[in-house]
Amino acid sequence: MNINELPKQFKGKSFLKLLDFSAEEIEEMLNVSAALKAEKKRGVPHQMFKGKTIALLFEKTSTRTRCAFEVAAYDLGMNTVYLDPSGSQMGKKESIEDTAKVLGRTFDGIEYRGYGQENVDILAKCSGVPVWNGLTNEFHPTQVLADLLTVKEHFGSLKGKTLVFMGDARFNMGNSLMVGCSKMGMNFVACSNPKYFPGKELTDVCKDICKTSGGSVKFCSDAFEATKNADVIYTDVWVSMGEPAEAWKERIEDLLPYRVTKEIMNNAGENAIFMHCLPSFHDLNTSIGREIYEKFGLDCMEVTDEVFTSKQSVVFDEAENRMHTIKAVMALTL
Ligand code: CP
Ligand code: NVA
Repeated sequence: MNINELPKQFKGKSFLKLLDFSAEEIEEMLNVSAALKAEKKRGVPHQMFKGKTIALLFEKTSTRTRCAFEVAAYDLGMNTVYLDPSGSQMGKKESIEDTAKVLGRTFDGIEYRGYGQENVDILAKCSGVPVWNGLTNEFHPTQVLADLLTVKEHFGSLKGKTLVFMGDARFNMGNSLMVGCSKMGMNFVACSNPKYFPGKELTDVCKDICKTSGGSVKFCSDAFEATKNADVIYTDVWVSMGEPAEAWKERIEDLLPYRVTKEIMNNAGENAIFMHCLPSFHDLNTSIGREIYEKFGLDCMEVTDEVFTSKQSVVFDEAENRMHTIKAVMALTL
């Protein structure tokens, strides 16, 4: 692929959720990501967007997403302006709509991380520039693009692969993975306490997509039945950003049977990989991890340290791929 001649159909579009794109378009984004990644590894510069400046609007904290956007932007020759969770008037003194209009006059593109999906939708509608969703409560599409690239790199293809998501499947990661798998003809299994299965409306949409993609969507509350022969075991934190700390007690009670352990990995397919969007509570090297240990006696939560640090774990490949895939999304839409 010649990255100086990128496909034109994405130009000016926003990247708000994977549901807005066809399987062919997602495949195209993955191909561009792989091409940009290969160029970077070979030391070939691709500063095609010199003179452009993008806004990074974060209402929640971040390590990976912020760094991925910043480095990807620099690699493309662009400048960035970071607005931290307390550093803008948005929502407090100025509506999202007015903020969108202001930022749209100043920037060539806007990344948004925050709460409701409606916020990123309003930004896209009112700013007049491409808007990229860097995580909302409902969706985390740039993460899933990186995850799909990682699965593809590992297995060579996506179609027919089975991904089991264990834990809180009704939030951004469970939702987005269900959409991504359905679109790409993969089998998605939500493995959890039924309280944490994705909502009916989105599930129905995904089941419909599967009719043509060849994928499937299943929910299962038996951890060993759900993970039998799976290709990918995926998990996420049990309490997400923006949720109250009081949620931990109930989540631990509900989700402990869905922790990813060595036994679960042994039950999965012979070549199964472990994935996690990160950050992860797999040891006691975090302040929240230690607090949970003191309160509930758990030395890890959604995944054991043994699995997290095992050869099957590709979590840092995923983290790296955030940058290559975000770069592709920006290069295609600007
Ligand atoms: N996976 C992910 O989005 O990480 P950050 O919260 O660090 O951006
Ligand atoms: N579900 C997590 C994902 C973090 C990348 C959260 O929203 O906090």
